[in-house]
Amino acid sequence: MSKQFDVIVIGGGPGGYIAAIRAAQLGKNVACVDEWKNATGGPAPGGTCTNVGCIPSKALLQSSEHFEQASHHFADHGITVKGLSMDAGKMVARKDAVVKQNNDGILYLFKKNKVSFFHGRASFVKAVDGAYEIKVAGAAEETLVGQQIIVATGSNARALPGAPFDETMVLSNEGALALTAVPKKMGLIGSGVIGLEMGSVWRRLGSEVTILEGLPDFLGAVDQQIAKEAHKAFVKQGLKIELGVKVGDIKVGKKGVSVAWTNAKGEAQTLDVDKLIVSIGRVPNTIGLNAEAVGLKLDERGAILVDADCKTNLPGVWAVGDVVRGPMLAHKAEEEGVAVAERIAGQHGHVNFNTIPWVIYTSPEIAWVGRNEQQLKADGVAYKAGTFPFLANGRARALGDTTGMVKMLADATTDEILGVHIVGPMASELIAECVLAMEFRASSEDIARVCHAHPSLSESTKEAALAVDKRTLNF
Ligand code: NAI
Repeated sequence: MSKQFDVIVIGGGPGGYIAAIRAAQLGKNVACVDEWKNATGGPAPGGTCTNVGCIPSKALLQSSEHFEQASHHFADHGITVKGLSMDAGKMVARKDAVVKQNNDGILYLFKKNKVSFFHGRASFVKAVDGAYEIKVAGAAEETLVGQQIIVATGSNARALPGAPFDETMVLSNEGALALTAVPKKMGLIGSGVIGLEMGSVWRRLGSEVTILEGLPDFLGAVDQQIAKEAHKAFVKQGLKIELGVKVGDIKVGKKGVSVAWTNAKGEAQTLDVDKLIVSIGRVPNTIGLNAEAVGLKLDERGAILVDADCKTNLPGVWAVGDVVRGPMLAHKAEEEGVAVAERIAGQHGHVNFNTIPWVIYTSPEIAWVGRNEQQLKADGVAYKAGTFPFLANGRARALGDTTGMVKMLADATTDEILGVHIVGPMASELIAECVLAMEFRASSEDIARVCHAHPSLSESTKEAALAVDKRTLNF
């Protein structure tokens, strides 16, 4: 006997579980199917973000930053630590406990919102009378029928040709978050978000880290003034970053990995490391979905083809998150999930792609929203720029963390904020005010006139707004 639902969500990551909860809030009878297993084979909803992405990386970034502070910076505060040591295994165990809390939290939320959860892999079987039959293969096999289907199957790490992930020597984000001993030498291919976050974790814990990046510019998608400041800080910390490289043969042995590469000058080089992390982007995941059975269309990259409203080519089938176009960010997936649930319920869900924030959780953190200077120049937009360095912020000085700046870009004629770019302490939190301002189409003067608590890092955002009008008060 098949079980009938108004909405079946395939995938329990940030896109899927949030869509399921929102649809249930709106009175729909909802099922969510997710196959992720924890160490004992039990359900571990939350997807890449919760299990091997956002959450565990932040747990390890925090632990490793505590170690870095105790090793190098406590002395500045008059604190002496004798016999400091570190247990990578314990850090990873703590990270696993944090992940479990999040998995359990999602299962609790499903219960609270009366979402039926199925642990297993969902695949399309066929269309039936305007609905869809979905098979769940798992501990217990189930047949579900849903009037509306939301596909939120996420993405997988992209491997380098000739160097498949074995998660022992050649690691994706999964292996990089599970090491229980600190490798002496760590190599990374790709200095994007994962490369910089994972490179930072293992450098802080004692690895000698080298990152090989194919593009000539460091963080090419980031405002280049901000990227240059970040690059300076990372190099000073000891990260070796080689830009404009060409990666050649990768030889994987029992004890290490040897990477042949060519530097920007065209000189042949070899990098010998104990572990290699490959972080060159991710690919949409539709493995095992059986999209062909119902004629669900994919694009040339393997992403599910959707319109601006996340509608696929099939009536009643939607797709959100990493498996569709757009940035592979948990919060973008969540927004799409909410919007789709609301559209299914007859409401007018909306996602503003111009105000999706980005954060790289390194130290200093990098965060931005809206367009950067390169993009405004390319778009031929006349703009004014204002920057304010954390060096001139009292709270940053008291914290002992004065790296970086806030940079605000505003339209030269209307003063509307077009983008805000931050490198520095707590950039991940500071960006929220800027997202809100842009969502409300604020001008730089609006921010300049808002009272910000003193002393706080957020005063730097106000000062950057004042700088747009060339009237900073503290610099
Ligand atoms: P990414 O797209 O951020 O960076 C990949 C980097 O690898 C790029 O700089 C690219 O130029 C380089 N690259 C590509 N092919 C190469 C090659 N053959 N040789 C050398 N370099 C090469 O991808 P990443 O870091 O793997 O992250 C994947 C996704 O996960 C991203 O879309 C990111 O948004 C998301 N993510 C987000 C986080 C956050 O929001 N804090 C944290 C971690 C991941």
